[in-house]
Amino acid sequence: MKEAPDDDKAWEALATKAALLNEAGHILMADGRCPDGDWADAAKTLRECSAVVLKKIDQKDAEGAQIAFQAMTKACAACHKVHRKQD
Ligand code: HEC
Repeated sequence: MKEAPDDDKAWEALATKAALLNEAGHILMADGRCPDGDWADAAKTLRECSAVVLKKIDQKDAEGAQIAFQAMTKACAACHKVHRKQD
């Protein structure tokens, strides 16, 4: 298990990043840019898991945040598998 953030400032920085990832889950669905169900499901996973990450950060639960983060990365992989073009 990685170390927990040292101080309140570090926890706050982490919370900002988790909140931005949650926003990304909304932005991915905005303005009719969602092409299909794979995309929509992945964006939903991203929103839900990043919300759990944020909650754990608010509780200063480093281990819980890391577990939720791992679950969140499934959303990245699920969407990339279908929609990200390989070079
Ligand atoms: C709903 C779909 C979707 C989700 C969810 C998603 N991505 Fe992506 N991502 C894409 C697409 C589509 C591309 C390819 C864009 C392109 O063709 O240039 C991409 C590309 C990327 C790239 C490469 C950018 C580059 O310049 O090559 C990174 C890094 C990345 N995503 C990170 C993430 C991370 C981290 C997450 C999860 C927190 C995530 N993505 C979740 C759709 C998604």
